[in-house]
Amino acid sequence: MSKVSIIGAGNVGATVANVLAMEDLVNEVVLVDIKGDMARGKALDMWEQAPIVYCSTKVTGTEDYSMTKGSDVIVITAGVPRKPGMSRDDLISINAGIVKSVTAEVMKYNENPILIIVSNPLDVMTYAAHEASGLPKNRVMGMAGILDTARYRAFIAEAIQVSPKDIQAVLMGGHGDTMVPLPRYTTVSGIPVRDLIDEDVLQAIIERTKKGGGELVKLMGTSAWYAPGAAASQMVTAILRDEHRIFPCCALLEGEYGQDGIYLGVPVKLGKEGILEIITLKLDEKESALLKESAEHVRAVMKVYDGMK
Ligand code: NAI
Ligand code: 2OP
Repeated sequence: MSKVSIIGAGNVGATVANVLAMEDLVNEVVLVDIKGDMARGKALDMWEQAPIVYCSTKVTGTEDYSMTKGSDVIVITAGVPRKPGMSRDDLISINAGIVKSVTAEVMKYNENPILIIVSNPLDVMTYAAHEASGLPKNRVMGMAGILDTARYRAFIAEAIQVSPKDIQAVLMGGHGDTMVPLPRYTTVSGIPVRDLIDEDVLQAIIERTKKGGGELVKLMGTSAWYAPGAAASQMVTAILRDEHRIFPCCALLEGEYGQDGIYLGVPVKLGKEGILEIITLKLDEKESALLKESAEHVRAVMKVYDGMK
């Protein structure tokens, strides 16, 4: 029996539930939201599609945290998304309280779950959940790198007219405009990307990726959910299937990459114990400087978080 709970049944949370249900990987998905009827309604809608999409995952909606009992993985998407003109960091005053309280609630009913945080500002909210849960660092991680890398990969695929399936890439740093896409670690079916794309086009893609979340907020008036939902469910799958896949995820650093005591996006290996390993890449001077700058940005948001205590 495997069970996944998703806290926050809004755009991202419901998408994670739907992707997981369609994958038919787990026995049960529980969607929790303060808007209990909305969670119940979305869950019922997903359950009613089960005969059509041919899956048996039972999706349940509720406002009652006791129904999360026995979850293998819990995805936290509760909080507010940004509106046009806002940065992810502007959300901290509302979302820090929400993330801490929902983490405390799920910990009442789950002894040793794995937590995947999605709520923004991502790196600091993941730290907040780690602190509130008391779980070991391998069991608390944030989703951002898979999404940011997917945007970067999709833009490259479009520019050189190949399938997005063939673009492999690494992106590091905080989930904000200082994120660090790494062209040296980007290939197209093993071919270095720079062999196939002009440098000015690549640089424009890097800039677009860094502002990829904002591009969608401008278009939709709220933030994205399809790619974020798919990204979080890919992490859940890698964990439940013990796949040992390597993804960029937000992990607690304790000396890796010269950083200590902050959550930051780095390549990790995911399996049934959560983060099995942080992969340490040999960054060159420029890449290290960009990562340091990104870490400093996360530290500045951490200061705001610490000041709220
Ligand atoms: P949304 O507004 O559609 O959904 C959020 C849900 O959280 C709402 O249904 C709301 O009722 C619920 N909620 C609020 N307080 C709650 C509480 N105390 N307990 C339980 N549920 C509660 O927002 P959306 O678009 O789903 O985004 C959710 C969060 O994820 C935002 O903070 C957003 O910035 C972030 N996000 C992060 C991404 C990433 O890459 N890490 C990508 C996309 C969104
Ligand atoms: C995104 O990058 C809002 O963080 C979210 O789309």
